[in-house]
Amino acid sequence: MLTLKEQIAGYEQEINTFSPSGAADLEAFRIKFLGAKGIVKMIFGEMKNVPVDQKKEAGQLLNAFKVLAESRFEQFKSLEDSVDKKESREDLSLPGTPLPMGTRHPLRVTEQKIVSIFEKLGFSVATGPEIEDDWHNFTSLNMPENHTARDMQDTFYVQTNPDWVLRTHTSSVQARILETQQLPVRVICPGRVYRNETISARAHCFFHQCEGLYVDKNVSFADLKQTLYYFVTEMFGEGTKVRFRPSYFPFTEPSAEMDISCTVCGGKGCNLCKHTGWVEILGCGMVHPNMLRNFGIDPEVYSGFAFGMGVERITQIRYQVNDLRLYSQNDVRFLRQFQGI
Ligand code: DAH
Repeated sequence: MLTLKEQIAGYEQEINTFSPSGAADLEAFRIKFLGAKGIVKMIFGEMKNVPVDQKKEAGQLLNAFKVLAESRFEQFKSLEDSVDKKESREDLSLPGTPLPMGTRHPLRVTEQKIVSIFEKLGFSVATGPEIEDDWHNFTSLNMPENHTARDMQDTFYVQTNPDWVLRTHTSSVQARILETQQLPVRVICPGRVYRNETISARAHCFFHQCEGLYVDKNVSFADLKQTLYYFVTEMFGEGTKVRFRPSYFPFTEPSAEMDISCTVCGGKGCNLCKHTGWVEILGCGMVHPNMLRNFGIDPEVYSGFAFGMGVERITQIRYQVNDLRLYSQNDVRFLRQFQGI
């Protein structure tokens, strides 16, 4: 005759290896072990035959057995409930259906990188409208009507209002900042700009810029250079060389364009740098006194620097994208290449 302990051990094994192949199996299990005339009840009935001195141990054993039977049942029951009411059971060990991972747009990645570098230097982000009036896009930037510098940028005019344009550069945000904010100001202004250009690999009717502006007492060209050196090192890595070439912008004096040593060939000469070893990345200069005066700022007391860079250009250098059109075609074969960046 099997002892109670041995009986329980046998049933425990049965329970542990139990694996139903459907709801009917599970119900049979319930009736067999947990039903009104089931094994758990039956074994509990045996308690009365256990000698008094063994009752405590036997009670613990029985309780553990009951819990095992119940939890095994619950485990399969919840599986059963989660599967469709249909007869068929899903194979829960199958791998899930893969969901394609999205990507951030490379221009946005670059823009965020630019912004975060300048944020570390204490610049804050400012934005302005894409439909801009003549004053903020041109006149206040030292480009009065009929100024030849307006021809540097082919402008889209808004037909219904001759005073409105699609902004040709983010320098318009500089104007809005100087108009509304207390000095000193230190801002970085990312945004989309528009020019009336025929679309090709190297030109587009819209693209993106990031403008920087710092106006305070005693701001010098040395501050501008140091700020931009820091930017270049953070963006393109230690050892990237920089050179400034004198240039002309109506809103800065003196003005310069900044080149960096080609990050692809290291200066030896390649397609990106057109075999010169250098690539231009931005325009910059000291804010023109006329521009400060336009906003009631005394150029004898305050000075500032400004710079503007093309986000497409920086992205092109970072990822060797050689056709501007790719950025706005939404071709997933292009966009997928930036997964994980
Ligand atoms: N606005 C100029 C452009 O679109 C870029 C630029 C040059 C911005 C010099 C500046 C600057 O702030 O100082 O070509």
